[in-house]
Amino acid sequence: MIPQDFIQQLLDRTDIVALVERYVPLKKAGANYQARCPFHNEKSPSFSVSPSKQFYHCFGCGAHGTAITFLMEHAGYSFIDAVKELASQVGMTLPDDGKRVAPEEDHRREKLYERMDIAARHYRQALKAHEPAIAYLKQRGLAGETAAKFALGVANDDWQPLAAAFADYQDPLLVEAGLVISNEGKRYDRFRDRVMFPIRNERGQVIAFGGRIMQKGEPKYLNSPETPLFHKGRELYGLFEHRRSIQHEDRVLVVEGYMDVVMLDQHGVDNAVATLGTAITSDQAMRLLRLANEVVFAFDGDAAGRKAAWRALENSLPQARDGKLLSFLFLPDGEDPDSFVRTQGADAFKKLCNTAMPLSDFLFNELGNQTDLSSQEGKVRLATLAQPYIAKLTQAPLLTRALRQRLDSLTGLASPRTAGERNRPSGHPSQLDKFGKSLRPQSGSQGRAAAQPSAWRILLRALLHDPSRASQLTDLPEVAGSEADAVQAVVSLAREHPEIPARDIPDHFLGRPEHALIMQAAGESIRLDDDFDINADFQGALSAVMNQANRIAAKEFSGRKPSEMSEIEKAQLRASLKTRKPV
Ligand code: UTP
Ligand code: MN
Repeated sequence: MIPQDFIQQLLDRTDIVALVERYVPLKKAGANYQARCPFHNEKSPSFSVSPSKQFYHCFGCGAHGTAITFLMEHAGYSFIDAVKELASQVGMTLPDDGKRVAPEEDHRREKLYERMDIAARHYRQALKAHEPAIAYLKQRGLAGETAAKFALGVANDDWQPLAAAFADYQDPLLVEAGLVISNEGKRYDRFRDRVMFPIRNERGQVIAFGGRIMQKGEPKYLNSPETPLFHKGRELYGLFEHRRSIQHEDRVLVVEGYMDVVMLDQHGVDNAVATLGTAITSDQAMRLLRLANEVVFAFDGDAAGRKAAWRALENSLPQARDGKLLSFLFLPDGEDPDSFVRTQGADAFKKLCNTAMPLSDFLFNELGNQTDLSSQEGKVRLATLAQPYIAKLTQAPLLTRALRQRLDSLTGLASPRTAGERNRPSGHPSQLDKFGKSLRPQSGSQGRAAAQPSAWRILLRALLHDPSRASQLTDLPEVAGSEADAVQAVVSLAREHPEIPARDIPDHFLGRPEHALIMQAAGESIRLDDDFDINADFQGALSAVMNQANRIAAKEFSGRKPSEMSEIEKAQLRASLKTRKPV
């Protein structure tokens, strides 16, 4: 572990503007710098870098972070590598006190990369002289240039093909890298007699392999195990090779197999990536949506393909955002993208992609197949089935609304709200509900599409701009809602740590439910540097929050006995009586 204060010092000494500028041309705009966002494709610049806050934020795609996250997200560094890179730039040495884990760990990773690289070269070299493998690839229609672009290779039909590549075959790192298997004192290569597909990270380093058997046999593909370098739920095959085209085309195609990616590329479709034998994870979906506005999932038309598509849908819902397009393509029976593009060509394939089914159609089609809409019960069932999926769309308020409307019109029912919308955390949901709603255009709270930010949002931004404002927020009403929760959370943090710099606040909530919202609002607060009368807005929002709370409290509680009230309600009532202005 690298100590937090080391990271802090590192970020303090790093100039994020200079760092980002090495990758993205920046233009000065007011106190900040602007560019077209490197994380998604866009025409006008919504990517902003703040020298005073030392973070970047994209108003278009929500990408947000520090110099460290920039190196990780944009340049493909691991956390450790990013820290090392920055440290070497500012002349700091990584601490080796205490646990000493970081540098050693780091050193080992480097050695693992080295082993993978040696193995990849070896496999590649071996392919040149391997008649059966060459024949196999030829018979599959693969061109030499394509094999070279994807650095394909072969593992010989032998127990220890890699013994020729490594001086020390007993090296334990070969086992850790997943290249060699050690079994009851015997050692042998994991990959034998297979065509080898190296899997590269975004920096182009080989981190794993997939090996295809050339004859009949099981398993058809053998993949590297999870290693310190390789997490299959995170990586995507082809991303290194295709990143630029994906950004350029603003569309990424997600296919199932290595060969699909490779053969599509050979035919000129160079924006495809493949998951590594698993359903796409939410993390992978997020990475892709940062690169392009459109993600098309292509699956086989069979039952297995539909099942895989459904899992892709489930995992991408939380990453869906208004304005992004997720769609699902089913290939004709018995075809995969590889066979399709080989027989029909790239144009036909691209046309097919344009017919992909939008996420909402796929969702309702599949659920509709499970229900009989001619009966009332069937309609209710559809509404119940759809609800949990709609609830996963936490980042797409407009899409949520559109799906609700569609569900309502399909069923003739008003669809139920999600649990989060229904249940307020404390005692008496009814008052609190009204309370929260009236202050919160909740549907717009995550997106910047909302024309008018709520009063709580304004407070949150102002707080994140200047945490010392927390001292003015001592008497906030207890109100339900994510923005109010976030304000309360930041206020308590700032009270506990009065010296905390604004830019450290979002990281403090990592892993907590408030995190996403706080990140978003912190990004919005960058703009406050330029063109905002922060103080007036802050005061206005504060009195809006107080007045509205008081009005509601007074109205709701009139005529109720104190014994029937919760502590929170009593406190609200007291506050309202104390501060209510005469009318
Ligand atoms: P498919 O069985 O659809 O194979 O597996 P494919 O991609 O069409 O392969 P070819 O054309 O016969 O060579 C799709 C993906 O599932 C994973 C691999 O990532 C493969 O590319 N898979 C498949 C495995 O990991 N192991 C297997 O045994 C089979
Ligand atoms: Mn295939």
